[in-house]
Amino acid sequence: MNSRLIIAIDGYSSCGKSTVAKALAGKLGLHYIDSGAMYRAVTLYFLENDIPVPGPEELHDFTYDYEKVLQQINISFRFNPENGFSEVYLNGRNVEREIRSMEINEQVSHVSAIKAVRKRLVMLQQAASSEGGLVMDGRDIGTTVFPHADLKIFMKADPMVRSQRRYKELKEKGVNVSLEEVMQNVVGRDYEDTHREESPLRKAADAIILDNTHLTQEEQVAFVMEEIRKLSMSTKTA
Ligand code: DC
Repeated sequence: MNSRLIIAIDGYSSCGKSTVAKALAGKLGLHYIDSGAMYRAVTLYFLENDIPVPGPEELHDFTYDYEKVLQQINISFRFNPENGFSEVYLNGRNVEREIRSMEINEQVSHVSAIKAVRKRLVMLQQAASSEGGLVMDGRDIGTTVFPHADLKIFMKADPMVRSQRRYKELKEKGVNVSLEEVMQNVVGRDYEDTHREESPLRKAADAIILDNTHLTQEEQVAFVMEEIRKLSMSTKTA
């Protein structure tokens, strides 16, 4: 397998992108980067340091020196051999758990609509490919971060099914939340992510749709592996 392969996985909130991306990275021996975790880490920094976050209506008229704030933020990933996952660090502190809270869920789409934030994180994400091939999941990976990715997958699933999956996950972690709240957050984030001005979530023209409403994790991974097989066949015959 080509170790410089770049696989972009985009899609709606709570579609299971990271589960598929991690499994693929493991099978293919590629790095996995969760770009959403980067936006979540910046959101955590903003909340902890009382950095103002404009709502969608205020975004245009809002002036704040985000570039200066971003200079104080260092985001990195470190492999945790205990669970086999790369975990996200904010200024040297492991924030993997904190960034999955409902509070972050509620703010992250606002923070990720800020132009300076996107510019900085896209630059870091692109730089990650200098270390070799990777699987990256997010919202704009196939459209903006890696428009020339070898393979682009666009994931979707019924919003109710996605909310139920996320609700189960949060309950298992002991988070006190109702299914209605989760559904509201999932649908609200979909709306903001697809309607923002700066690289909104949309399917790249050459992305392959993976609707996983009725698919198991194994079936989803098998679907993408088949696309990779087709890709390597076409590059062999080209
Ligand atoms: O994948 P996730 O749910 O952890 O992402 C959290 C938020 O970050 C999501 O609502 C939108 C934003 N995001 C983004 O704007 N661009 C990306 N490439 C990844 C995430």
